[in-house]
Amino acid sequence: MTATENVAAAPPAATFTDAMSRLVSGLAVVTTRQSGGRPCGLLVSSICSYSVDPPSVLVVVDHASRCREPLTHCAEFGVHVLGSAQERTARTFASRGADKFADIAWEWDGAVPRLCAAPIYLRCNVAAMFDHGDHTILIGEVTRTEVREAEPLVFYRRLFDWRLRGNGVRQL
Ligand SMILES: Cc1cc2nc3c(=O)[nH]c(=O)nc-3n(C[C@H](O)[C@H](O)[C@H](O)COP(=O)(O)O)c2cc1C
Repeated sequence: MTATENVAAAPPAATFTDAMSRLVSGLAVVTTRQSGGRPCGLLVSSICSYSVDPPSVLVVVDHASRCREPLTHCAEFGVHVLGSAQERTARTFASRGADKFADIAWEWDGAVPRLCAAPIYLRCNVAAMFDHGDHTILIGEVTRTEVREAEPLVFYRRLFDWRLRGNGVRQL
């Protein structure tokens, strides 16, 4: 049996997650304010540019996430695309810790908790949302964009910190 046949013979969910682990992704922390006023946030890889007119992003949130309820009831949320120096931040926001913001520099940007060290920050108005399966898809219209030069934090085959080849690569 070849390696390809081995993978194909695995149960569908395992085959699917293995296949998707081979899709290189960036990582972002999505934040918002809870009804009690405290910040909340989670790490996501399911995020992409959705449209340019209006500038919008699409974020996918698991129903099991504690941030789902605040995110589906808020008017605004923040997206923080992480840099290669922020693996610890990624792990913190992928956890179910009691106070993920305790050891991180952050500030309020209106109603949005903003992580100061993130190289890319998008402030978004919630424009649309819908459920499919066990996830909620959120569309956010971007009202503020800030960018600082930094190497990206890359997730690939369940590992953080893959390095992109930055030199000699032709732009599209
Ligand atoms: C690499 C990686 C990518 C993730 N991507 C997503 C995602 O796209 N959407 C999601 O809902 N959870 C994602 N998670 C899981 C959440 O970050 C995790 O469940 C977190 O504990 C949720 O926090 P909360 O319960 O405080 O909201 C990801 C986790 C990791 C490690």
